[in-house]
Amino acid sequence: MSARIIDGKAVAGRLRGQLAERIARLPFRPGLRVVRVGDDPASGVYVRNKDRAAAAAGFDSATVQLPVDTRESDLLMLVEDLNIDPAVDGILVQLPLPPQIRPDLVIAAIDPAKDVDGFHPVNAGRLATQQPGLVPCTPKGVMHLLREAGVALAGARAVVLGRSQIVGRPMAQLLLQADCTVTLAHSRTRDLAAECRRAEILVAAVGRPEMVRGDWVGEGAVVIDVGINRLPDGRLVGDVAFAEAAERAAAITPVPGGVGPMTIACLLENTLEAALARRG
Ligand code: GUN
Repeated sequence: MSARIIDGKAVAGRLRGQLAERIARLPFRPGLRVVRVGDDPASGVYVRNKDRAAAAAGFDSATVQLPVDTRESDLLMLVEDLNIDPAVDGILVQLPLPPQIRPDLVIAAIDPAKDVDGFHPVNAGRLATQQPGLVPCTPKGVMHLLREAGVALAGARAVVLGRSQIVGRPMAQLLLQADCTVTLAHSRTRDLAAECRRAEILVAAVGRPEMVRGDWVGEGAVVIDVGINRLPDGRLVGDVAFAEAAERAAAITPVPGGVGPMTIACLLENTLEAALARRG
C-alpha cells in the first residue's frame, strides 16, 4: 500500500480562512500576546510564524520580547498586566524559558480564560473531566486533521506514543472523547513496536527523529507524526521514518506540512474562542 498524504498545510489554510471570515464580522479584533524570553532561535521561528498568521487572519497580535536574564517576578508581573488588559484575549508564553524561571509557576499565573495554549492546570482539569475549556493546540490540530481526513474514530484502536503534558496526555483525552480505544505508550512501555503495530490510528509525539520504523506501522493504519526534529545535516524529520511508514499506512502526515501548521491555526481558533467567551 502507498499511503495517502494528509495535507496539514492545506487544512490549516482553510481553517485560518474560516477564522478570518468570522473575525471580519466581529465588532472588535481579538487580541493575542505572545511572550518570548531570550533568543532561542527555534522559538524565534515559531513566534514569527504565529505573529504573521495571527495578523493575516485579522487578530490584534503582538510579541512581547524580554531579555534572557529576565527575573521570574518580572515575567509574573507582565502576565498579571496582560491578565487585566481588556484588549488581550489570549496569552501565550513561549517555552522553553530560561533556567531562572519556573515554567509551572508562569503557566499557573495566566488567567485560565486567556490561556490559549491550554496548559493551565484548570484547563487540563477541564479536559480530563469533559468540561468545556481551552484545549492544547497541537492535539486539537490532530483531531481536526483526523476528522478532515474522514478517519472513523469511534471504536478505533488508537495508540499515542509519548506522554508529555503538552501533547501526549491531552491527545489521549481527546481521542477517548471521540470514542477511540486509547493506549498511551511511552519510553517505559514493553515492546513498543508491537504496541504501535496494533494501532489503527498511531500518533507519534516523542521528539526522537524517525524512531517509528516502517515495521512499527500496521497495514492500513493512519499515522500522525507530531515530531519536528532537526538533524545534524540540517534536514527536518518527524518521529516517523516517513518513506518506510508510507509503504504500510493508509494515510500519513508529512513533516513539515502536517501537524505543524495545524498547531498555529488552532492557536488562532483558541484565541477567537477565548475572545467570544470573554466578550460575548
Ligand atoms: N514551545 C514549543 N511549542 C510550544 C507551544 O505549543 N506553546 C508554547 N507556549 N511554547 C511552545
